[in-house]
Amino acid sequence: LGRAEHTPAYEVVVVGAGAIGLAIGWRAARRGLRTLVLDASDPMSGATGVAAGMLAPVTEADFGERELTRLNLVSARRWKPFAAELERASGIDVGYRETGTLTVAVDRDEAEALGRLHAYQRELELSAQWLSPRECRHLEPGLAPRVAGGILAPNDHQVSPRSLGRALVAALRSAGGELRTGRPVASVAGSAVELESGERLEAHAVVIAAGAESARLAVPAEARIAVRPVKGQILRLRARPPVQLPARRVVRTPEVYAVPRADGRLVVGATVEERGFDRSVTAGGVLELLRRAYEALPGVAELELVEASAGLRAATPDNGPVVGASGVPGIYWATGHWRNGILLAPLTADAIVGTLCGEEPPRELEPFSPGRFAAGERMAVMR
Ligand code: GLY
Repeated sequence: LGRAEHTPAYEVVVVGAGAIGLAIGWRAARRGLRTLVLDASDPMSGATGVAAGMLAPVTEADFGERELTRLNLVSARRWKPFAAELERASGIDVGYRETGTLTVAVDRDEAEALGRLHAYQRELELSAQWLSPRECRHLEPGLAPRVAGGILAPNDHQVSPRSLGRALVAALRSAGGELRTGRPVASVAGSAVELESGERLEAHAVVIAAGAESARLAVPAEARIAVRPVKGQILRLRARPPVQLPARRVVRTPEVYAVPRADGRLVVGATVEERGFDRSVTAGGVLELLRRAYEALPGVAELELVEASAGLRAATPDNGPVVGASGVPGIYWATGHWRNGILLAPLTADAIVGTLCGEEPPRELEPFSPGRFAAGERMAVMR
């Protein structure tokens, strides 16, 4: 931690009370740092409050993103102890379930695409097994008869992000950290945060973990990064007895995912839309999600539709997160987590807090430092 000339009220101020910001706040407070987490609205009012909570490094592995997959795998391995520790600290069940994930093809084209994906997964030595249509339906009898094969990722699990958020708030407070909500931040400059109300807060370190909203925050030019919002619409369905959920594990196709919760809910998501900061739910979005889910799991038609919402992913040009020290002393980034924010929360929190305490971050994070955007800008200018 840098040292200001006088002692500021906080050692760490975290901007953003989503999964990432709260996890950083909890871990920092637990290490004895005077910590404040700020949010413009309520905790989890951004992407965390709508996210499905898939912990899916294998299922989300994409061509050309080996370094990101490596990072996702490291964080996935931390999830079980992280959830156990958080539950002990908060007394709240975070809904961590080791269900595995089955990705199925609903037609021949999708089967070919999944075949190519499986070959890539095998090249990376990921834990993924190709299943015949019969084997898929044996695992998940609720699948449509048209299913043409699939990939089982036995180690891709799930957590409930809303329960996670509640647990992190409780753990942050019981570790002595502070949470202030309804406090929009106007700007961050070095080791000071200026609120829209005019109040100025000083700290040794300011960590910006505001997800897509990070893109709208005023920061010094040398600290800037490239992040943008990408909208995802998502549905929550519920099985009322005697109706049962049509899937036991996470089931997805290349176009849609369905995440069954222990309490009889099914989360169905998500659209991927470049629409700036628009968070509206559209009839077309809901129609598309239900149509795609119904193609794989016809039983969704029997479920009650209880919620339709939209969130904003924080996306970057290379789909990787932005974690670490910025070009301005005192400002740190923890954003840009794209489709993997819940998955990467334990690793991001420990890396940021470790950095603040003078420790080396895990080497898998090296490609994801904020400096990569600054370097890109310089190269663009030189050309
Ligand atoms: N992780 C799933 C999504 O971003 O929709």
